[in-house]
Amino acid sequence: MTLLHNIKTLRSEALSAIEQAGSAPALEQVRIGILGKKGTLTALLRGMGAVQPEERAALGAAANEARDAIEAALKERRSCLDAEALDERFAAEALDVTLPGRTRPLGSRHLISRITDEVVEIFRSIGYRVVEGTEVETDYYNFVALNTPADHPSRRMQDTFYVVEHTDEASPPTVRGESSVLLRTQTSGVQVHVMEQEQPPIYILAPGRVYRRDVADPSHLPQFTQVEGLVVDKGITFGDLKGTLDFFCKQMFGEERKTRFRPHFFPFTEPSAEVDVSCGICGGEGCRFCKGTGWLEILGCGMVDPNVFGHVGIDPEEYSGFAFGLGIERIACLKFNVPDLRMLLEGDMRFLRQF
Ligand code: DAH
Repeated sequence: MTLLHNIKTLRSEALSAIEQAGSAPALEQVRIGILGKKGTLTALLRGMGAVQPEERAALGAAANEARDAIEAALKERRSCLDAEALDERFAAEALDVTLPGRTRPLGSRHLISRITDEVVEIFRSIGYRVVEGTEVETDYYNFVALNTPADHPSRRMQDTFYVVEHTDEASPPTVRGESSVLLRTQTSGVQVHVMEQEQPPIYILAPGRVYRRDVADPSHLPQFTQVEGLVVDKGITFGDLKGTLDFFCKQMFGEERKTRFRPHFFPFTEPSAEVDVSCGICGGEGCRFCKGTGWLEILGCGMVDPNVFGHVGIDPEEYSGFAFGLGIERIACLKFNVPDLRMLLEGDMRFLRQF
């Protein structure tokens, strides 16, 4: 009867070893030790061959029962260990949702974008709509159709960057024709595109970047932002132009500001004027900011020249109009008393955060 006794002992030892296995690998070692090829139960079962046939049935039953019990215990212990491991992982990887997150600094709009939007909003409120042009333009739209033929001296002030598609080293392109492509020097070309495509009444605003071969200094930038305005309708007069731009200046700078119109020359308008707004620092008395004049120049304007209407097929006997162009960087500097246009582009956060 020692074999039966052995089975019982083995069974209870195995069950307690299973109960004590502290991890999945340890449990696997226990299993191998019992049920593996060289395991204790395997060896015992092998020994059954030598048992007397009349004892075999009882022993076999006990051995099978022991094996079933051991396998059941293994299974239960395994799922218990799995659950514990999962709990441990949950605990280790738990997110503390009560911790304050890392905040990313929130950016803000650049002054140039803000002022552009402000200008657009002011004109939108009186019925203008925004049209966008392209930053590359042909010589024709940038100059010729704006009454500035190739030999016109006013082109010199707006020398720019030409986009040359093909250069022959031996003979670089010297003749620039109407189809030459350039970085636009002004947004005025948008006027021509709009008038080619639409019939009056036209009330548009065209903001965008422009380029000139200028060296940056406190009052010049080789690349800046302009807003072009154009009105074409029946019976438009210089009085409409003055009223509109005076309204704009008061909206932009304050009701107390005055405007004045100085005669000027632009090829595409006749008559033309430059508009000054009274200095916001001295109120018109004269100070360093306005160079003692009491006035600050803010834009160019004029009545659309009949020659420009001629290029786009609008009858100047039936329609008249006015146009204006202003520099956003300049307006931003005037509004916030910034002494140097370049500060807007330097990206110095100490400067930019002030707005
Ligand atoms: N395009 C001019 C410039 O860049 C600004 C300007 C002046 C635009 C008069 C106009 C205008 O439409 O009528 O200097």
